[in-house]
Amino acid sequence: MALVSEALGDHHDLTVFASGQASIDSWLAQHARGAEARRVARTFVWHRGDGVVVAYYSLAAHVLVKDQLPRALSRGSPERIPAALLARLALDRRLQGQGLGAVILAEALGRVVEATKVVAARFVVVDAIDDGAARFYEHHGFKAIPGTMRLVQKLSDVTAALDQ
Ligand SMILES: CC(C)(COP(=O)(O)OP(=O)(O)OC[C@H]1O[C@@H](n2cnc3c(N)ncnc32)[C@H](O)[C@@H]1OP(=O)(O)O)[C@@H](O)C(=O)NCCC(=O)NCCS
Repeated sequence: MALVSEALGDHHDLTVFASGQASIDSWLAQHARGAEARRVARTFVWHRGDGVVVAYYSLAAHVLVKDQLPRALSRGSPERIPAALLARLALDRRLQGQGLGAVILAEALGRVVEATKVVAARFVVVDAIDDGAARFYEHHGFKAIPGTMRLVQKLSDVTAALDQ
């Protein structure tokens, strides 16, 4: 069955999902719906037509403080920089290592690009959960902020990469 991508809804089963990162799995099961209701994060899920979630990501508006960015990235920005936060992104273990991480990341970034046609953001931001996740994001054009687990990518670069 092909994978279906949808905004999180009441009919989705969040209990089976297992990415190998317990905090990412429990956030989906316990907090994603509450975050949705309070408009703290929007979550999008993949399933195989049966509603059982096998991948997800969450997006939220964010503000970066200019001083916390390397100068090469912050040049030309205001003190407080509008951004979009890729708050979580994960595949069920059975889907990992097949190139689908790149596919779901491209989908998430595509939604960010669409959103920023209406509400401006200069960067997309991720907080990597571990070094492997950081390498995954670096592999996809994100730049690490030294001394942190945070990575950012300019929306202009994201847009150019998705247009290729
Ligand atoms: C992170 C995650 C989404 C990556 O998905 P994946 O299916 O394992 O990765 P893919 O097979 O799509 O790999 C995509 C590319 O990134 C690279 N990549 C993936 N994981 C990597 C890693 N740990 N280190 C370096 N590169 C990595 C791959 O080499 C691949 O390169 P290619 O496009 O040139 O072939 C997935 O492993 C996952 O859900 N992990 C658990 C949850 C998690 O850690 N999420 C991140 C939260 S911050």
